[in-house]
Amino acid sequence: MIIKNNQSLKAYNTFGIDVNAKLFMSWNSVQDVVDFTANSELNSHNRLILGGGSNMLLTKDFDGLVIKNSILGREIVSEDETEVHVKIGGGEVWHEVVIWSIDQGWNGMENMSLIPGCVGAAPIQNIGAYGKELKDIFVSLEAVNVETGELQVFDLEECAFGYRESIFKNVYKDQFVIVSLTIRLTKKGCFNTSYGSISAELEKAGVKELSAKAISDAVITIRQSKLPDPNKLGNSGSFFKNPIIPEALYEEVQFEHPGLPAYPAQEGFMKVPAGWLIDQAGWKGKRVGKCGVHTKQALVLVNYGGATGQEIFQLSERIIADVIQKYGIELEREVNVF
Ligand code: EPU
Repeated sequence: MIIKNNQSLKAYNTFGIDVNAKLFMSWNSVQDVVDFTANSELNSHNRLILGGGSNMLLTKDFDGLVIKNSILGREIVSEDETEVHVKIGGGEVWHEVVIWSIDQGWNGMENMSLIPGCVGAAPIQNIGAYGKELKDIFVSLEAVNVETGELQVFDLEECAFGYRESIFKNVYKDQFVIVSLTIRLTKKGCFNTSYGSISAELEKAGVKELSAKAISDAVITIRQSKLPDPNKLGNSGSFFKNPIIPEALYEEVQFEHPGLPAYPAQEGFMKVPAGWLIDQAGWKGKRVGKCGVHTKQALVLVNYGGATGQEIFQLSERIIADVIQKYGIELEREVNVF
């Protein structure tokens, strides 16, 4: 295990925030994780485990050990005429796996094309887009308990997935390292194009016969038209969650703002788009110093270059305060702040 001192994290977070980690190392295998847990000196540090660094805002130097999950691997664990179960290493890049699965002729990941980040991070917030969530194709995952070094398998129920939620975000926060994910992919159709903009995009592209590739291409086109490429403009995708509010509050806000879109959530609640609230509050495209709100999607905060995590955090505080004041709705950050 190679441990580096004072490593810049700029290349390891998609916001491109330049802070340092006191100590830095990578895990390349499950054994590396197990060895780590058995090493009391290493295990005593404050630690931060990184996947693709695509869902975090770093606001200060990290006074501890940052670990990059670089565990690779793609393996068929079972297969029949209709389905295949594939086990993927936690350090694999999500979108590369999506493209690979489509090349193999397998369906199921296409709606989640171009989501930034690593496979091991996907279950933590049950990533999703365009009508599909990870939980829809999830079979199980393997995770190492960082205290005991034990390798544990979690099935669908044990992960307690919800909207951008799982047990690894609350009850088991920082207790497990996800080393592999097993997903179920199909060999025949079964596509989901219910999300309005996908069907519109497929029609625009003149697609006659549905395929995972056609849907993936449509999703990529939509995402690229709205979401900034982190290699060109630092960002972390959706910065806020879409708030789920009581029906009574929804009706109140809707009375004053008849254009407010909403989707039914659990009984008695509605989900409203944070992007709409922020946009209508006048923040879309607003620049504050070196950071700002993306011009094409108000849910995304961007680093125009050289912004600090503190500056982006302050901007998000101002947006939250303004949205409360205008609509009485409290936005919650989707990104993790360190
Ligand atoms: N809207 C605005 N102005 C904006 C942005 C959105 O008025 O600036 C309105 C849209 O017109 C639409 C509604 O808000 O009526 C929803 O917008 P959109 O369909 O673009 O989706 P979203 O709710 O903003 C969510 C996910 C995205 C995911 C898309 C597509 C969350 C927090 N975000 O965004 O996930 O790609 O749906 O499924 O749930 C991510 O997590 O990083 C991410 C990009």
